[in-house]
Amino acid sequence: MKKTIFILCVVLSILLIMWMVGRLRRGGNAKVGEYMASNRDTEIVIYDIDDLEAMAAEIIPHGAFDYIRGGAETENTLRRNVESFDAVDIYPRVLTGVEQPDTTTSVLGTVIAMPIIAAPAAAHGLAHTSAEAGTARGVAAANTIMSVSNYASSTLEDIAKAGAGAPQWFQLYLSKDDDFNRQIVKKAEKLGYKAIILTVDAPVGGNRVADSRNNFKFPLSLPNVSKKTIKTKGHGVGAVFAASQNKLTPYDVMRVKAMTDLPVIVKGVQHPDDADVAIWAGADAIWVSNHGGRQLDGAPASFEVLKQIAERVDNRVPIIFDSGVRRGQHIFKAIASGADVVAIGRPIIYGLALGGWRGVESVLDYLQMDLQRVMTLAGTQNIAEIKDVSLRPRCDCVQCGGI
Ligand code: FNR
Ligand code: LAC
Repeated sequence: MKKTIFILCVVLSILLIMWMVGRLRRGGNAKVGEYMASNRDTEIVIYDIDDLEAMAAEIIPHGAFDYIRGGAETENTLRRNVESFDAVDIYPRVLTGVEQPDTTTSVLGTVIAMPIIAAPAAAHGLAHTSAEAGTARGVAAANTIMSVSNYASSTLEDIAKAGAGAPQWFQLYLSKDDDFNRQIVKKAEKLGYKAIILTVDAPVGGNRVADSRNNFKFPLSLPNVSKKTIKTKGHGVGAVFAASQNKLTPYDVMRVKAMTDLPVIVKGVQHPDDADVAIWAGADAIWVSNHGGRQLDGAPASFEVLKQIAERVDNRVPIIFDSGVRRGQHIFKAIASGADVVAIGRPIIYGLALGGWRGVESVLDYLQMDLQRVMTLAGTQNIAEIKDVSLRPRCDCVQCGGI
């Protein structure tokens, strides 16, 4: 009898220790100042990227989650960003001999493992205690590029250190304080950032209704902005935008070009004429984006304007594409429509919240695997072959099923 009780106690203690270790690994939430952020540190098993939003809603505090997930106004453009990929089909191809397709590519002189990069997004500290430093580690582990927002919640130094030499781009919102603009661009250059992204689609913030209803204010500071002109902690994103330089012209692209030897990418282009102007002003790449539906609601889906912009750009400079990319078929369709690489916004932040840097790596690994599956079924062995693919416009009538 005594022996049985002893064995029972040993088994129960082992189970308790295992549960506690698992709990520690999975993490939970930890205080960052007054804010509770996830401190999870685990890979995540992904069956479908769409599952991540609901999972992240469980652990990111409500106001912060709405800020991350939210779009502008009716969120019509936000929804269409994803739905618009259904307007074209990919022909399955057979007897092509394709196996283990190669997803490596290069953009602005940087070779990456996949045509998928992390889009710049403010305040990763809302999602995880490691903030952008955690994201940097996960993106580096996936061997691709991290774009770092001007409104990051980690310093540029910490993010560069966490990336440990992996390629990173710095995204700039021009400040009214021009000395600051020059200083931060020079700092990014010195820290080894490989390009400057000038975001031009936010002269004012979009109508973020959820943030207004929640009276959302950043609960943490954003250390890479001009202290002279911008207050961040305790202020909403609209106020942060208002304190930045709002009026932007092609001469601002020229000004930033004059500040650095790095390539300058103009982010937020949604019209072919604007792509022309940006290239005329010196843009080294065009980033086709509607800010993930967070700016002008009622705008086209970003994918709906990609092809005509790519035709106008006519390979003069590379094209980065984002807004609504959630699956391998979206990435395939964007590349077949003229993008050189695609960028991912919200799913990266959800991955960070759900697993820290390992969660970010899990998201990128999943998307790469999903793209490889689509490439195999579409008979394309590498990225160059995707660019030669003609997509089929989807419509109801049989006649337009043209091959
Ligand atoms: C963003 N985005 C963004 N863009 C930018 O140039 N600078 C920034 O600081 C931010 N901040 C930001 C925060 C959050 C929470 C989100 C969701 C997005 C826009 C981002 O770079 C990208 O254009 C979109 O996120 C792409 O759409 P998906 O992938 O999120 O649908
Ligand atoms: C946003 C800004 C920070 O979309 O770009 O929230």
